[in-house]
Amino acid sequence: MTSSDAFISIRNVNKFFGGFQAIDDVSMDIGKGEFFSLLGASGCGKTTLLRMLAGFESTSSGEILIDGQPTADVPPHHRPVNMVFQSYAIFPHLNVRDNIAYGLRKQRLPKAKRQEMVEEMLDLIKLPGYGTRKANELSGGQRQRIALARALILRPKVLLLDEPLGALDKQLREQMQLELRALQRQVGITFVFVTHDQEEALTLSDRIAVMSGGKVLQVDTPHGLYEAPRTREVASFIGNMNFFPATVRRNGASAGAVETEGLGTIPVPLDILTKPDGAPVQVALRPEKFALSDTRPDGALAVQARLSTSAYLGERSHHYVTIDGREEPVAVSTPNLHRLAGDDAGTGAPVWLSWTPESIVILDAE
Ligand SMILES: Nc1ncnc2c1ncn2[C@@H]1O[C@H](COP(=O)(O)OP(=O)(O)O)[C@@H](O)[C@H]1O
Ligand SMILES: [Mg+2]
Repeated sequence: MTSSDAFISIRNVNKFFGGFQAIDDVSMDIGKGEFFSLLGASGCGKTTLLRMLAGFESTSSGEILIDGQPTADVPPHHRPVNMVFQSYAIFPHLNVRDNIAYGLRKQRLPKAKRQEMVEEMLDLIKLPGYGTRKANELSGGQRQRIALARALILRPKVLLLDEPLGALDKQLREQMQLELRALQRQVGITFVFVTHDQEEALTLSDRIAVMSGGKVLQVDTPHGLYEAPRTREVASFIGNMNFFPATVRRNGASAGAVETEGLGTIPVPLDILTKPDGAPVQVALRPEKFALSDTRPDGALAVQARLSTSAYLGERSHHYVTIDGREEPVAVSTPNLHRLAGDDAGTGAPVWLSWTPESIVILDAE
């Protein structure tokens, strides 16, 4: 995305609370209609950034533009944004209809129009006929849908969602994730969604900003973050990753390779080698990019290994294997298509560990 397509533009934003820096030089653009997530561990600054977009918090320096307009002097209620929180911010003494219509009370709309809008929202959140229910008669998932409807009825250009599914149990949360994604596509509003749950971010988002210590480490699609993390920190935050110390080898102008500790020499196209011959790098491989077999596989790179531990998880098994030249075991995740002889032989059984050159990621040395 180029910054001319940006609907929200965050430029060199810093935020200090007294002497503590909560946001550290954050710049990014969010496109119109994007489902954009801020992902990071608790305390990394997600809520602070969201509150600055909403106008509940000022920036210490830098600039935020929404729909091309600078926001510094625009109070929250004049911004084209609305916010949904983790706790169900709905009124227990009002029924569902009055909760949803709450924000409309200042817009002098005819009663019939208002009711029509509420009915539309009830359909959208799949709770038709619930208008007269009391808020305290609803489940957690239903309350959170009401909170969404209450924000959406005001037709904001941007909806800010701060861990809105965090209080729901796992099964309901997964169901609500799919509904939320479908609903966002339907209404086409830009969503900025905060979560510390990487799976949730991967499931929902068009793009994700991975945050740590007030900084944005990488902004990318779920696929991009998983397959091409740019740093070790991002690689280990999203999923699991094995890292191998390695050295760049350039053999003239035609061939390149990385010489690793443990996986031998892996040929790679020269254009993905950005470092000079002899430069230290790290080779990263996800557990599921490896395969295990009883005999040496044809056409793949392989080393002899020993099974250290295996955990059978039904759909997949997670193993640790040890290889020569490396103290730390290698994490391997395999689909349970067939059994290995080693599965019965137990600890120390010999297996072949194999992978393809396309499955490696080359990162800067630490
Ligand atoms: N009003 C505040 N005053 C002082 N420190 C704050 C305030 N709000 C947030 N912080 C601090 O800023 C950091 C980021 O907080 P927050 O944005 O809430 O993180 P997250 O939402 O990612 O968990 C934390 O260390 C938090 O304690
Ligand atoms: Mg937070």
